[in-house]
Amino acid sequence: MWVLLSLALCLMLFFWMIAWHVWGNQNPSSVTYRTKPKEFVAMVEAFTKKYMIGTDNGVPVVMPDPKKDVFMLGEQWRWTPVLVLQKGEWYKIHLSSKDVMHGFSIQPVNMNFMVYPDYDYVLNFKPTEAGDFKVVCNEFCGIGHHQMLGRIVVIENDEDLKKYNYDKTSLTERMAKVAAGGTAVTAAPMSETEMATAGKELFSLKACSACHTIDGKKLVAPTWKGVFGSEEEVMDEQGNYSKVTVNEEYLRESIRFPEKKKVKGYEKIPMTVVPLTDAEVEQLIAFIKTVR
Ligand code: CUA
Repeated sequence: MWVLLSLALCLMLFFWMIAWHVWGNQNPSSVTYRTKPKEFVAMVEAFTKKYMIGTDNGVPVVMPDPKKDVFMLGEQWRWTPVLVLQKGEWYKIHLSSKDVMHGFSIQPVNMNFMVYPDYDYVLNFKPTEAGDFKVVCNEFCGIGHHQMLGRIVVIENDEDLKKYNYDKTSLTERMAKVAAGGTAVTAAPMSETEMATAGKELFSLKACSACHTIDGKKLVAPTWKGVFGSEEEVMDEQGNYSKVTVNEEYLRESIRFPEKKKVKGYEKIPMTVVPLTDAEVEQLIAFIKTVR
């Protein structure tokens, strides 16, 4: 009897799956493109730089124009950027992963998509409800999986931005500058303060913040708070321990070749080597110096 019952249940679920596909109204569009992580990351960065209005816990916050292409990237271990969308407007959301398979799950509405690297999934998306939505990863993707969160904020008008402590003044100013024929980025040599500001932007843009904190909290990697000038016990590639003072030279080496001297307690955790220009490395170091 139990075998028959379970068989009946299996069959019911099977046909319900087909019925849901037809009447469920929750099917992803089948538009999918081939891409490469590098290519997709470049698109996400360009998109983020264009529409960025600030940061939220180290993740860039962007407020794109409606009806435009919008990007969201899954990477170990965060969703980036935070999206601010207008209620009742259509967006074309592109989803992909930089590294491994992630699950894109919007809560509490419970919409789920699988996100693989090398594919760009296009979802035509119209938020019908204002509010604060979480994006959780529901595919086990490594030691930081449980903290892989993203955020989509849906607003009805610009007033709503205040609720989230967001402010789009910088975006409006940037857009005005571009409209007047200027560029959004300046090329003049930078002062130490400007370098630190640029470094702070890189901290969120290049996902350093996925593993390092600036408030002393412990994630999968050492915090940057107070790290500059501190003495750390490190392990070299042969497994020998020694003491180093964290200075520019050490940081420069560690950003480029993380395996050379690893901080005690984090020996087993591989650090991602992020492709950065020499100027960007210096900007990050300038920022690290300011994190006290
Ligand atoms: Cu990404 Cu779990």
